[in-house]
Amino acid sequence: MSSEAKGGLEDVVVSTSDICFIDGREGRLVYRGYDVNDLVEHSSFEEVVYLLWHGSLPSRKELDAHVKALTATATRKLPPGLLALLRALPKKTTPMEVLRTGVSALSAFDPDATDNSREATARKAVRLTAQMPTLVAAWERIRRGKPLVAPNPKLSLAANCLAMLRGGRPTPLEVKTFDVALILHADHEFNASTFAARVTAATMSDLHSAITSAIGALKGPLHGGANEQVMRMVEEIKSPARAEAWIRKALADKARVMGFGHRVYRVEDPRAKHLRRLATELGRQAGNTSYVEILNTVARVVTEDKHIYPNVDLYSGAAYKSMGIPTDQFTPIFAISRVAGWAAHVMEQHANNRLIRPRAEYTGPTHATYVPIDRR
Ligand code: COA
Repeated sequence: MSSEAKGGLEDVVVSTSDICFIDGREGRLVYRGYDVNDLVEHSSFEEVVYLLWHGSLPSRKELDAHVKALTATATRKLPPGLLALLRALPKKTTPMEVLRTGVSALSAFDPDATDNSREATARKAVRLTAQMPTLVAAWERIRRGKPLVAPNPKLSLAANCLAMLRGGRPTPLEVKTFDVALILHADHEFNASTFAARVTAATMSDLHSAITSAIGALKGPLHGGANEQVMRMVEEIKSPARAEAWIRKALADKARVMGFGHRVYRVEDPRAKHLRRLATELGRQAGNTSYVEILNTVARVVTEDKHIYPNVDLYSGAAYKSMGIPTDQFTPIFAISRVAGWAAHVMEQHANNRLIRPRAEYTGPTHATYVPIDRR
């Protein structure tokens, strides 16, 4: 590798983009000019999706039409053929494998599947954003042998997703928390999964292919899979009283602690504080604050000792767990939100496309002499 390249494309600017800005030193995250803290306070996930796709906040009329399209039962429901496919999968299939397979298969049922025009991609983006929560919830019900819960067009994406996953009606605090989590995860500049989506889109492949690539990249524990690993750590620690000794030993053993560190942020991830607050409130409501207490101790020790700060994945799982969501569904929930950003990036890539094809600095031999197999 050339001496100036740090590996992992660190600090490499590969393209311009109008969608998302991160100031890693100040800890600021901005979607289309709007600070994510303001969006958390005043907006909804549906409005943020509109903002990411269209570049500006909607009028009341535009938002109503957008929400109607996203929440319609016809848009949310899964084709019977897809449900049959899900039912044919082994019950041990993880939710992320199901999501990757399901999103890929949905293209076979999509009327615009092979059309890459802006209008067709926008229609597919609406359908996928509406279908992915139904897909995630359907697998949860199928693998547990429970009846499916039909989508409810009167409910927001957050409320409907919780209702389909668990049955019954979520509390207002649960819906608020889920909606905020969706807003916070909706986009993050050229993160690994978004870059994977853009690389695929840049070959002039279609939205479903780009999002299938992105889901594959999101799945790994260094990216979206970290939230699941954080909860596995909390479960291993078991009680707040054991947290300090556990994390000190992990750091002494040079372990990589999930939910900390970031390629871009040099301070605490601005998304973490919202999830910490909401996870704390939900824990209180559920009468169990131990997850957040464990995480707060872990955060104090890791920050003091390593000067590495919490990222978005540290507290999201504690919030989801308090809502009774299984640990292996945390990363699919991340994807339910990030599909908004992925779709915005695919549309931006298609609008001004050039194939993404970098080079490698070759470090292997260049003039090897071929030896026939019986003389090796
Ligand atoms: N736990 C312990 N040490 C960590 C760490 C973590 N979570 N994150 C970074 N470090 C340390 C590394 O060991 C390395 O130390 P060294 O220079 O002494 O070897 C240094 O910080 C730089 O780490 P590096 O892996 O090169 O940074 P990166 O930019 O390639 O990685 C992440 C960024 C996100 C992949 C990394 O911080 C990480 O693995 N975090 C845990 C997974 C996670 O939470 N991912 C979700 C991100 S939103």
